Amino acid sequence: MTATEERDPGAGAFPAGFVWGTATSAYQIEGAVDEDGRGPSIWDVFSRTPGAVAAGESGAPACDHYRRWPEDVALLAGLGVGAYRLSVAWPRVFPEGDGRADRRGLDFYRRLVDALHGHDIVPFVTLYHWDLPQALEERGGWRVRDTAERFADYAAAVHEALDGVPYWITLNEPYCSSIVGYAEGRHAPGAREGHGALAAAHHLLVGHGLAAGRLRERARQGEQVGVTLNMSPSVPAGPSAEDAAAARRMDLMVNRQFTEPLLGAAYPEDMSEVYGEISDFSFRRDGDLALVSAPLDFLGVNYYYPIHAAAAPYTQPDPALRSAFDIGVRTVAPDGPPTSGLGWRIEPRGLRDTLTGLAARHPGLPPVFITENGYGDRGETDDTGRVDYLREHLAATAEAIAEGVDVRGYFCWSLLDNFEWARGYDARFGLVHVDYATQARTPKASYHWYRDFIGGHM
Ligand code: NOJ
Repeated sequence: MTATEERDPGAGAFPAGFVWGTATSAYQIEGAVDEDGRGPSIWDVFSRTPGAVAAGESGAPACDHYRRWPEDVALLAGLGVGAYRLSVAWPRVFPEGDGRADRRGLDFYRRLVDALHGHDIVPFVTLYHWDLPQALEERGGWRVRDTAERFADYAAAVHEALDGVPYWITLNEPYCSSIVGYAEGRHAPGAREGHGALAAAHHLLVGHGLAAGRLRERARQGEQVGVTLNMSPSVPAGPSAEDAAAARRMDLMVNRQFTEPLLGAAYPEDMSEVYGEISDFSFRRDGDLALVSAPLDFLGVNYYYPIHAAAAPYTQPDPALRSAFDIGVRTVAPDGPPTSGLGWRIEPRGLRDTLTGLAARHPGLPPVFITENGYGDRGETDDTGRVDYLREHLAATAEAIAEGVDVRGYFCWSLLDNFEWARGYDARFGLVHVDYATQARTPKASYHWYRDFIGGHM
């Protein structure tokens, strides 16, 4: 028996009814970007910017899931998952961002949801996985409040069209949609702004609150509404007070900026450490935090790795000109634990600490679903690295459950190799290999391993 097999959590480590799933998102797998009236999203436009995406790639071909979905549903059924997390493409439903919903886009998801039910697979539907209609970006994108209102209308339209979705996730990783998209500029729309990024973060939260309210008003029996955050514990790289402060700034930026308004109805008091000189918060209105913090039925947590943070000089010495990502932090890779095929640190303990830390800081924490966790590499089908990663992170999940955290399910990212945003197709996270030249799907060793693991933990 190898060291990792010893860590294999036993059948009793997960509570009865624990949900086993896998996840994808629309822009990363669907392709067919001009089909059935779909409008352009910010990722279609951003991908055309020279240098924005590795090798100049885009989600235009992706996995051609829009046409090949029956084959992908068969792969899910073969995997034996009880749940599948998918996202709806806003520009398929509202090609112009608002106005009249396009029935063809909605029909695609209706057929997909029906097919999932045919295999007893429960759909978890994410409404916003980063593909904002370009038309709305041209009206200010998430910098403006109107986008949050349009998001709530879109949520209501999707809800009306899709019966049989018990779990709704408003947003996926608002940190990435705001800070990575509007401050760092590594993701669409590729902006490098300070104030705009903080307004975007706030309007995403308001959009969540408005959409959650609309979903609840109309909820069919038993439907649950939540939101998914990316969580990375932020650890000081060294023993100095400067590194400790840097780790705190990173924690504020990545985690607490979102967890505290959602779960505690307030922005962290020490947020000014990362806001720098930005002082215009007129985008916040009375009542927003009450809206944002309306009780969640569940919290989705995406975890990949922890951050090791060291103090570093600010890129822009003039605080008035600093972007919201310029927070005087350098992430470092200490010696020690291994990294994934993409060089991402592998520290399963970070997942346990994330879960136990959330429960400790937020006494009324709703039930948690791990809505993403996975391993990226460059494409081996005998992917033992992925198998070890999953096994160890499932063991870490079991530890958090044993310590009292109410974790209800686990979704492996991802069913298929897919368009990994700015990294293009080179980075692969799938349990199933995709040959992009032929669109042939080949289950990897990890697919078979996860299928057996699920079978042994029902
Ligand atoms: C989180 C994102 O939600 C997903 O779209 C992405 O592919 C994975 N992380 C891996 O980077």
